[in-house]
Amino acid sequence: MVRKILELGDETLRKTSKPMQKFDLRLWLLLRDMADTMYNAEGVGLAAPQVGILRRVVVIDVQDEHGLIELVNPEIISAEGEQAGSEGCLSVPGRRGYVVRPNKVTVRAQDRKGKRFELTGEGLLARALCHEIDHLDGIMYVDKMDHEIFDDGEEN
Ligand code: CO
Repeated sequence: MVRKILELGDETLRKTSKPMQKFDLRLWLLLRDMADTMYNAEGVGLAAPQVGILRRVVVIDVQDEHGLIELVNPEIISAEGEQAGSEGCLSVPGRRGYVVRPNKVTVRAQDRKGKRFELTGEGLLARALCHEIDHLDGIMYVDKMDHEIFDDGEEN
């Protein structure tokens, strides 16, 4: 089920999300709805607070070999390098910004059953991991962007 995506200015997006403690049907339905909502909006990632749920849950699909990634209680445990590039957010429709992120990050998380695992991502996946995990602490890319990028390709 596609859920409504909250937009920049909604105070829920600025709150800190709580860890998920139960790995039950409720979580699985949330993960399903978050994936439906992300794909419907043609996004590459979505965090639970963006659909109004203040829990540490993220879905990502950067259309690489990983397919759909589900992360519960994710934490970045290492980061290296730097990449600068264009970034957008489903909660900031129609806008993009130029944001510097690590080029490679390793995340520790739990899966939908609570099993712990680690995931390393580079490039776009590293960017998505940083962006989505920021949402869990109420941080939006606009807070970190160097400047806005406009549709005509001009950077201002
Ligand atoms: Co976002």
